[in-house]
Amino acid sequence: MDHFAYRGGELWCEGLRVADVAAERGTPLYLYSRQTICDHYRRLAEAFAPAAPMICYSVKANANLGVLRVLADEGSGFDVVSAGELFRVLRAGGDPARAVFAGVGKTPDEMAFALDQGVHLFNVESAGELWTLNEVALSRSRVAPVALRVNPDVDPRTHQYVATGKRGSKFGLDMQAAASLLDEVADLRGVRVRGVHMHIGSQITSVDPYRAALERVVDFVAGARSRGAELDTINIGGGFGVWYQDRSAPLAADHARAILPLVASAGCRLLMEPGRFIVANAGILVTRVLYRKEAGDRRYVIVDAGMNDLVRPALYGSHHRVWPVATEAQEPAAGETPAAGAGAWDLVDVVGPVCETGDFLAKERRLPGVRPGDLLAIFGAGAYGHVMASNYNARVRPPEVLVEGGQHRVVRRRETYEDLVRGETP
Ligand SMILES: Cc1ncc(COP(=O)(O)O)c(C=O)c1O
Repeated sequence: MDHFAYRGGELWCEGLRVADVAAERGTPLYLYSRQTICDHYRRLAEAFAPAAPMICYSVKANANLGVLRVLADEGSGFDVVSAGELFRVLRAGGDPARAVFAGVGKTPDEMAFALDQGVHLFNVESAGELWTLNEVALSRSRVAPVALRVNPDVDPRTHQYVATGKRGSKFGLDMQAAASLLDEVADLRGVRVRGVHMHIGSQITSVDPYRAALERVVDFVAGARSRGAELDTINIGGGFGVWYQDRSAPLAADHARAILPLVASAGCRLLMEPGRFIVANAGILVTRVLYRKEAGDRRYVIVDAGMNDLVRPALYGSHHRVWPVATEAQEPAAGETPAAGAGAWDLVDVVGPVCETGDFLAKERRLPGVRPGDLLAIFGAGAYGHVMASNYNARVRPPEVLVEGGQHRVVRRRETYEDLVRGETP
């Protein structure tokens, strides 16, 4: 599935030894595999090929210019949720005509910027937003292409913070409200509603919620058409889950089998916004062990990366696989406990230097006797990793390095103390 692999007791990323890159670039360090990004994109493109979908990579998952350039080179479109993300896409050489602009709180300035760049569609989430977009477009003598984001009211069975398609969520319009809005705005001259958008959540590990949601969306399209609406696009959003801990997420082909017949039945063009599926397992966070300590009955491994670098464990209680970059020990399968006496195994919490008890990267993991100076790899850190990093505790954000075969290049340098105070006045 990805291009991170152990050979001879050492972790490699494509053609490079991870320890060598860490020695050259320091830690903590985000390391991305270009080939993995491309493989995941191509897997989706192939699985959904019968519908010739427009795949709009969701920039929020990993917005690094180097990553965006890789995807632009693959022919990907982009899903952005702010003018800033659109700016990034443009800087990376992405085509705005293959970008969709989502988000519940677009400002008039952001709408104007996106209109001037000629984005493919605005995913509109409320009546107020649609009226504002109409005015902004008219003031610039343009017509904004729109997909209405509907809330299909299905349970995506994922973490509550990333579930978005259930009734009462702040996202999208209830189906009934969306139908009334469509009728109301039929005569507006600044907007043209061409499609329906849904995004029911993230890290969804079953195809069933997509099937249930799409059945409702297909009915919605049929109803709207019968009242005169000219809808030609269904945007299914993102959310395809990935393997963080065990092999429990569906493959691209599984999703395609569930989704393609429904979209075909509506006679609509398919658009999709995958983020995590493409980049999550294309990145690791490499961190160095600073100290070990015991407190009460717990054993801590203190590392040089913290919640400011990777917030997912603290924010969502997310599980990231953690394993030494160099070790002769065999990693136990998920859920398996290593036999007693098999090396110096111990049960540890891997924690960072940030002054919060919530600052942990992994809890209660069996690791093979790691010592200060050892490197650890935190896997599955390519999505919602560096993009969510902060300067909390006045910590500089780590560099991002892209591996391309036997080469690597820094696609974002490590911050400096000067970066920490840029723009501030004492
Ligand atoms: C509207 C929208 N589209 C796409 C995505 C990407 O989701 P994922 O990274 O799970 O594919 C998100 C993420 O929250 C989103 O809000």
